[in-house]
Amino acid sequence: MRLLIKGGRVIDPANGLNALMDVLLDEGRIVAVNNDLPDDDAEVIDAKDKIVCPGFIDMHVHLREPGQEYKEDISSGSKAAAAGGFTTVCCMPNTEPAIDNAAVASFIRERARKTGLTNVLPIGAITQGRAGNELSEMAELVSAGCIAVSDDGSPVMRTDIMRNGLEYAKMFALPVLAHCEDLNLSRDGQMHEGYYSIIYGLKGIPVEAEEVMIARDIMLTRLTGGYLHVCHISTRGAVDLVRKAKKEGLNVTCEVTPHHLVLSDEAVGTYDANTKVNPPLRSWEHIEALREALNEGVIDCIATDHAPHHLESKDCEYILASPGISGLETAVALIMNELVHPGILDIEKMVSLFTTGPADILGLDRGTLSPGQVADVTVLDPDMVKTVDPAKFYSKGKNTPFIGRELKGWPYMTIRAGKIVACAGKIV
Ligand code: DOR
Repeated sequence: MRLLIKGGRVIDPANGLNALMDVLLDEGRIVAVNNDLPDDDAEVIDAKDKIVCPGFIDMHVHLREPGQEYKEDISSGSKAAAAGGFTTVCCMPNTEPAIDNAAVASFIRERARKTGLTNVLPIGAITQGRAGNELSEMAELVSAGCIAVSDDGSPVMRTDIMRNGLEYAKMFALPVLAHCEDLNLSRDGQMHEGYYSIIYGLKGIPVEAEEVMIARDIMLTRLTGGYLHVCHISTRGAVDLVRKAKKEGLNVTCEVTPHHLVLSDEAVGTYDANTKVNPPLRSWEHIEALREALNEGVIDCIATDHAPHHLESKDCEYILASPGISGLETAVALIMNELVHPGILDIEKMVSLFTTGPADILGLDRGTLSPGQVADVTVLDPDMVKTVDPAKFYSKGKNTPFIGRELKGWPYMTIRAGKIVACAGKIV
């Protein structure tokens, strides 16, 4: 099928493009990006007042299948991704069983292929069963299509195992996506430790729980020459550590979630368990630091940490609730409304954080509109205004603290391998 996306503002950071142009797609590939391309026999998409970008990549999602399909499955998660403007997602291995062997990784890829909406790339576990004691067979994971390793959801507490993991992953050029949390400091914690944890009477999680582990993992990266990617960075001190490591020339990158960029720990005062997330929502001092680091390039990409949960694990006492936010269907609008429209983040920068940022970290041959590339395209409508309504989510996880928030700037169309998979938030 030939598609001509006409008259939109094309933003393609990899090729330094930000101009009104047409984009022609054919047989699943980008054919041309230029002015006034002839429509020939192509289906024409009017992209006037829209922004045409390479397909967005979310390198950190939890799709829950196999094992917890009541929370999410690959089909519902793929739909949520497509509706949210993502053409590629990378799924974390805290499934049941964990993605610590080729069979599970192959199963996920096959399920995603059958669903056919989103490119789903599995992330293998660093350790067997994510138990933190023995390394997984990374060669096997790579051959089954895993693009990184992580025990996300849990840290690798044993320093010797993390050292070996970084060393072993390096042999396969795999980034190690680290969930940095010292469980001895965070245990039983419910929210960020600070003013509001005292006011609300909830046990706090100090920033040091995250920072101590990032410091350790940076040291281990120096020791091993491995590749460390810090997941869901959330504190000023953490950003400082990554900035220093990068200056030193270590192979260290990091991501931030939309919720850590736009919502503070004050929101926990509603005792709505949808505000419970790990790492916890931080205070404004940290949010400001994250925003500065985004602009500065210390933070390499935005990733949702999409963590769908069942109503029962959220409609309960705060201390009993599971941490996590269902993020795929609000990520783009939150960043557009809270950061891009108010002038805090440049739109070009935003596009790179969702495209070349994750593609470079993972070595993916995606994230650009270069002719010959797979025709993954995300079209944004910067003026569309909608209110967040989880009842309309494709995700089974309705757990969002942003319910009822009116946001301006949404994904308009998601095109995967030359095929329109979502339009105006609806799966086609
Ligand atoms: O809030 C979170 N939820 N943080 C994590 O690291 C894991 C995730 C989940 O799997 O629910």
